[in-house]
Amino acid sequence: MKGVVFTNLAEMVEENHGLATWQNILDKAQPPSGGVYVATAQYADEELVSLVVAASELLGVPAPELIRLFGHHLWQFFGKNYPQFISDHDNLFDFLVSVDSVIHIEVNKLYPNASTPDFKYSKDNPNELVMFYRSPRKLCHLSVGLIEAAAEHFKTDMTLEHPVCMHEGSDHCELRVIIGNG
Ligand code: HEM
Repeated sequence: MKGVVFTNLAEMVEENHGLATWQNILDKAQPPSGGVYVATAQYADEELVSLVVAASELLGVPAPELIRLFGHHLWQFFGKNYPQFISDHDNLFDFLVSVDSVIHIEVNKLYPNASTPDFKYSKDNPNELVMFYRSPRKLCHLSVGLIEAAAEHFKTDMTLEHPVCMHEGSDHCELRVIIGNG
């Protein structure tokens, strides 16, 4: 994954728990890079996993919850650094559909070798968008946090269901975004 993901994780921990806690996490995880991250450089996916596991143990927060909260933090970063990807859309569903067909394609042009997931979509009725997430990194909880933050941005009341999950042996995750009363 790109260094930008790691610098954002460090920033989130430092903002909420202080620099000393991030240092403790690095000491525990012992990442091969030494914990110095350059935004555009590439780091092993395992390095992110080991940092999340160490942070989860030290902070007493389950890893999926930590990753979900990280999604909210990343949303703020994306909003500041790539506002046009968000402001191009006036509703949540159009934005979410553009993540795979526009945003992550542009990300891959900007950052060659970027590690973005694959999303397929199904819209069975006007109030419900199903996102099928596939990625060897199994960061579905990051998607959950990002989708929640996007819904807040578009001022859209929604429920997010996650009935099928890669962490329970499936080859994909199903993220069901239901607006209003469905
Ligand atoms: C609700 C909206 C979004 C969702 C659900 C989403 C989902 C994800 C997930 C889950 C990953 C982790 C990699 C993986 O799972 O394989 C990822 C990576 C990434 N996404 Fe998105 N994303 C969203 C919006 C955005 C936006 C608005 C940007 C702005 C440019 C963006 C840029 C990136 C970048 C830079 C990476 C890291 C690539 C790397 O480390 O190599 N995403 N996205």
